[in-house]
Amino acid sequence: MKLLEEKILNEGIAVDEDILRVDGFINHQIDPAFMQQIGADIADHFKGRGITKVVTIESSGIAPALMVANSLGVPLIILKKQPSKVLNDHLFQTIVTSFTKGTSYELTLSQKYISENDHVLIVDDFLANGEAATGAIRLLRKAHATVAGIGVLIEKSFQPGREKLNAQGIEVYALARIKQMKKDSIVFEEE
Ligand code: G4P
Repeated sequence: MKLLEEKILNEGIAVDEDILRVDGFINHQIDPAFMQQIGADIADHFKGRGITKVVTIESSGIAPALMVANSLGVPLIILKKQPSKVLNDHLFQTIVTSFTKGTSYELTLSQKYISENDHVLIVDDFLANGEAATGAIRLLRKAHATVAGIGVLIEKSFQPGREKLNAQGIEVYALARIKQMKKDSIVFEEE
């Protein structure tokens, strides 16, 4: 998506060769109109495939995932990183370890919201090593739901997320694919 690539070039900050800061339009401040266009693009790619729910992981995935869910006309389910005090029984849970952040958390889904009748689209802001997405897939499989694919805003294609997901039979759709990053230089994969 040219619009997102331009936004990344104009406003993104390559902190080093691995980490891109996008606080101004994804992680800290959000432009709703821009996010709506992003959501419509991802929804358009996956429309007509019988998707019944969109699933994301808190917190930065929520804004784009809500826009996708709105465009597809289906509910959004937010996977929690901490089991809340009110969400305490009938849960699916799995541990996710993030290489990017060096942290682990227990990804949690209430059994109430996903069933074997669901065909789910996962939406997230970044695809790096794909650990978060793989954790989400583990939870969806525990619920016997099927996975339609994953839509991400930014894929760092120099990291192994896509291969890991494709190896599990999951289609990845990324709006911007970063091939290489250095301070002051961001190179995208050719479309
Ligand atoms: P991982 O396997 O290395 O953990 O990669 P994964 O794709 O699961 O990403 C882990 C977390 O790191 C995610 O955030 C993801 O959005 C974030 N992330 C990965 N690479 C970058 C990057 O280059 N820039 C930014 N800004 N974030 C990146 P999270 O843990 O789900 O947290 P949240 O931001 O959604 O709250």
